[in-house]
Amino acid sequence: MIESIDHNSSQLNASGQLKHFLTTEDLPATLLNEILDTANSFLDMSSQQVKKVPLLRGKTVVNLFFEPSTRTSSTFELAAKRLSADVLNLNISSSSTSKGESLKDTLMTLEAMHADMFVVRHPDSGAAHFIANQVTPNIAVINAGDGRHAHPTQAMLDMLTIKRCKGDFSGLVVAIVGDILHSRVARSQIHALRTLGVAEIRVIAPKTLIPKDIEFMGVKVYTDMLQGIKDCDVVGMLRLQKERMNSALLPSESEFFKLYGLNSEKLKLAKPDAIVMHPGPINRGVEIESAVADGPQSTILQQVTNGIAVRMAVMSMAISGQLNNSNSSVQR
Ligand code: NCD
Repeated sequence: MIESIDHNSSQLNASGQLKHFLTTEDLPATLLNEILDTANSFLDMSSQQVKKVPLLRGKTVVNLFFEPSTRTSSTFELAAKRLSADVLNLNISSSSTSKGESLKDTLMTLEAMHADMFVVRHPDSGAAHFIANQVTPNIAVINAGDGRHAHPTQAMLDMLTIKRCKGDFSGLVVAIVGDILHSRVARSQIHALRTLGVAEIRVIAPKTLIPKDIEFMGVKVYTDMLQGIKDCDVVGMLRLQKERMNSALLPSESEFFKLYGLNSEKLKLAKPDAIVMHPGPINRGVEIESAVADGPQSTILQQVTNGIAVRMAVMSMAISGQLNNSNSSVQR
């Protein structure tokens, strides 16, 4: 499927509200901040006795996962349930497409069940945009990760984690470490971090795992982790995406860990109050040492909690953006 996509505005309605959430690229800072503020209010609610609000009551959300997932699919499911939606979870790799049904037929079948929202994960870059263009106009599509292209809710839960730990984005130095080449998380993080106005974004990886022309995304490239991590406020680790590597891009996992794995010694080079993020699943001893993953600077579990709140925020915003979209088309 396509790797270069027209990102502009297919996810916004005429009033500039979200109607789909497909990418963090090109979204204005006001909208990213609205997602963070809305998520913050849902986070406060998650510690209360009753965790539910009726914002999506009567709506049907279909989790459409064409790739395996644990935390993303379960936090999307919980988010939808906390918004009072009815939720259907479909693991398509074990469903109709393995019987030869086309994606279009699968979508039409689900539309006939009157779904209001599709949460889509797919191994092909561009799949979420493709689905958003295919479905009936009043169905919201949320990208839960498409190939190596984008993973916007992961990036926004990372932004929420940074905001809650650091307060403000300006002045921050953020390093993203590991398999940048195959990472939809890194791409979505870079777009969001730039828009939210951090001082500096660094990517740290072996040459073989750095995409060509990444400098054009406004990042500094380091192949030496000891230099790259120096004085950072945020260290974002990535998983080695072995399932997306067609050829041997690394000598060995132990060599990778020696040079690019995060251990306590390397972490000492960052600022003393630096936080360590990882989207999960983590490979202990490959990207990150257990002492760091479980240590005081790690935000890995807070990220999971924040993920529910961010997903509640984008789901409720997209449903209301769809409603306003259809109201304004009726008036026209
Ligand atoms: C990420 C993904 O699927 O892109 N994980 C996640 O959403 N929790 C990162 C990864 O799989 O490495």
